[in-house]
Amino acid sequence: MTSRPVTRRRALTGLGAAAGAALISVTLPPLARAKGNIRDVRLQAGPTTARLIGPEGPETAVWAYNGRTPGPVIRAMQGERLRVHFKNTLEQPTTIHWHGIRLANAMDGVPYLTQPPIEPGQTFTYEFDAFDAGTYWYHPHFNSSEQVAMGLAGALIIDEPAPPPVDRDVLWVIDDWRLTKDAAIASFDRPFHDMVHGGRFGNTVTVNGQIANDVPVTPGERIRLRIVNVANARIFRLIFTGHRPWLAAIDGHPVPPRQFDEGQLIIAPGSRADLIIDMTGKPGERFTVIDNSPEGIRYRLADLAYGPAPATQPPARRAPEAWADNPLPEPDLDKATRLELVMEGGAMGGLESALYKGEKLTGRELARQHGMAWSFNGVVHPPMQYGEHSHPMFTFKKGESVILAIRNDTAFQHPIHLHGHTFRVLTRNGKPVPDQPWQDTVLLTVDGEAEIAFVADNPGDWMLHCHIMEHQKSGMMGHFRVA
Ligand code: C2O
Ligand code: CU
Repeated sequence: MTSRPVTRRRALTGLGAAAGAALISVTLPPLARAKGNIRDVRLQAGPTTARLIGPEGPETAVWAYNGRTPGPVIRAMQGERLRVHFKNTLEQPTTIHWHGIRLANAMDGVPYLTQPPIEPGQTFTYEFDAFDAGTYWYHPHFNSSEQVAMGLAGALIIDEPAPPPVDRDVLWVIDDWRLTKDAAIASFDRPFHDMVHGGRFGNTVTVNGQIANDVPVTPGERIRLRIVNVANARIFRLIFTGHRPWLAAIDGHPVPPRQFDEGQLIIAPGSRADLIIDMTGKPGERFTVIDNSPEGIRYRLADLAYGPAPATQPPARRAPEAWADNPLPEPDLDKATRLELVMEGGAMGGLESALYKGEKLTGRELARQHGMAWSFNGVVHPPMQYGEHSHPMFTFKKGESVILAIRNDTAFQHPIHLHGHTFRVLTRNGKPVPDQPWQDTVLLTVDGEAEIAFVADNPGDWMLHCHIMEHQKSGMMGHFRVA
């Protein structure tokens, strides 16, 4: 089985994209004053159409929040409480997961595990406090492989009381889509190849729901660029030609700003990065932001297009400084419980055998009979259903410090995501990670390892899974319990 042929070359590389199309940089509105400390938001998921490949291109039937893909930016101040009144107008059940947010288990949006699926026509109110500032996102956790690929994803921004000084705060929700030559979303009915390889790759990359476009910038300005990767499978490798951005936050949490190595920023599905970029170009210059994709195609993501010089001389710039940390519980590494998580499966290596619902099956049987391809610690976890929760992979006492050593024994990369908790990344591939950043998603390289540490302080059952949606669906997920 091969993946669908790539048909729309222009959309693919975006190189010939029409000039003068709609702007893709969304400048976020200034903060509205909160009336109390609860912010009410209305959100509705349903079918609509979008023009992904430019204003002249055909329309694409998508699923969207409030009629737009990506969905509306949900925004609150750190310390406020969000109340999201949600209605499902899709023809299938859904839920919303608030990716990266530490919240009460009942609000986590995992069907069967934390709430019943929200049926078509039904409503559900999500309510949670914004403890941590930063860049987060929301997406369905029901039939995610299809629902997210159809367009259901949006950014969630929690503002710091004292944000870093910049001239503009800009958001890029980056995505990729698998489109037919008529710009329809390619079918989901032959998922096997995607499942056992790197997931459902698209052939069209977008920023804020649009293919490559101009992002107008002003010489001398300093921008905070928030990037959210909502793709099912694409690990973006971004190159900002002509610029030297600082990486200033990962998964919402500030890190000492560092100009990134080799000019390439790797952002896996589910992950976020906040950059500080000084616009050092001259009036009239243009610089391309490239996705250096592993298939050897260099996608043009956007062009930074310099306008005229500002009327007043911009101030001299110093290197940006880290902003205030979030109130995260520090794991006690000396007393921490140490556990292993070994990932196996997929094509080129594969699964010899694994446990599935208590029965030992060969890799072949798992694939043929159950459409399963990946295991955690020798167990393939079936998709959750009523009364059929698999057992928690781990159970922790509330407040327990944990070091999880993750090993990837597969021929693919996997971004591993934990719900309800934020962890420090201690080491990757045996080397200490500078500053041990706080993350909720960590990318495991092929045959790679990572050690993460966190305090299991949030009671409930929490997912732990690969954020490549097709891997999650075919066994690379499970849950842990904090009691
Ligand atoms: Cu963003 Cu369980 O996922
Ligand atoms: Cu994976």
